[in-house]
Amino acid sequence: MTAHLNTESPVGGLFEEERSAEIVNARITADADPRLREVMSVLTRHLHAAIKEIEPTHEEWFKAIEFLTQTGHMCTDWRQEYILLSDVLGVTMLVDAINHRRPSGATPNTILGPFYVADAPHYENGANICLDGKGEPTLVSGRVLDTHGNPIAGATLDIWQTNDDGFYDVQQKGLQPEYNLRGLFTTDADGFYAFRTVKPRHYPVPADGPVGKLLGQLGRHPNRAAHMHFIVTAPGYDQVITHIFTPDCPYLHEDTVFGVKKELIAEFTTQDDAATAQRYDLQVPYLAVNWDFVLNPA
Ligand code: BEZ
Ligand code: FE
Repeated sequence: MTAHLNTESPVGGLFEEERSAEIVNARITADADPRLREVMSVLTRHLHAAIKEIEPTHEEWFKAIEFLTQTGHMCTDWRQEYILLSDVLGVTMLVDAINHRRPSGATPNTILGPFYVADAPHYENGANICLDGKGEPTLVSGRVLDTHGNPIAGATLDIWQTNDDGFYDVQQKGLQPEYNLRGLFTTDADGFYAFRTVKPRHYPVPADGPVGKLLGQLGRHPNRAAHMHFIVTAPGYDQVITHIFTPDCPYLHEDTVFGVKKELIAEFTTQDDAATAQRYDLQVPYLAVNWDFVLNPA
C-alpha cells in the first residue's frame, strides 16, 4: 500500500517557483527577533524578485558568489571592501540620509569613508595642518552655529584630507609625515574656528580589489570629488559628519560614492589681504574658504 504523503506543510509547503520567497519566509519561527524577521523577509522577497527578473544561469550565479567571496577575502582590519561596495552602490549615502534627516539650514552629513583616524593632534586656531608643504595654501575659517544662528563655543572640528598627490597620510606611511593634513580644532567664545591647509584635489577610492574591478567593468571611474572631511561635535547637538567640496573639481557631479550635496560645495576665493596673510603666516595671494557649520539640537 502506498503511503499518503501530506505535501501541505504548515510552514509554507514544498518548494515552488511561483511562491518561492513566501515559502522561505514561512520557515521563520514565531520566537525570532521581530526586526530580524522583518529585515530577512524583505531581503528574501527582493532577492527572489531580482532572481526571477534576471533569470541567471548557474555560471552567472556562481560568478556572483565568487565576487562576494573575493570581496570578503579583500577585507582586513584596515581594508573594508564590503563598505566600499556599499559606498559605490549608493547604499552608504542612502542609509545615512534615512538616519540624518535634518531641517533645512542645518549642515547635512555625507560619507565618513575609511581614512578617519581618531586622536589627531589638537591645534590652536589658525594652525597649519599641511606638514608636507605641497599644494595651494588655503585658509579655512568660519563659525559653528546653532539653527537660530547663535554661536556654539567649545565645538570640536576633527579635520582630515588627502595631500596634493591625492593620498591620505595612512596610505603613505613613511612617505608622508604622520598626521599630515589632520587636526582637531575648538571654537572660541564666538563659535569661531580657523585653520590653514591646502586646496584638496580629487583622488580614486582604493580600486585594486573586486569593487574597483566591478567599477571598471561597468565603465565607471573610481574618483571622489575633491573634498575636506569634518566631524563637528558639541555637547547637546547632533554630531555632523560631513565634507566641504571644491566647486571646480571635474568629478563634482560624478563622485563615485555619491557623497556630494549642493549645500556642501564651498567657494575658494583668491585673497590678497596683507594683514590676514601676516596674521596667519601666509603669502599673498592665498586661497580662502569662509564656511559655517550649523548644528541641530541632539
Ligand atoms: C573618503 O572620502 O575618504 C572615502 C569615502 C568612501 C570610500 C573611500 C574613501
Ligand atoms: Fe576622503
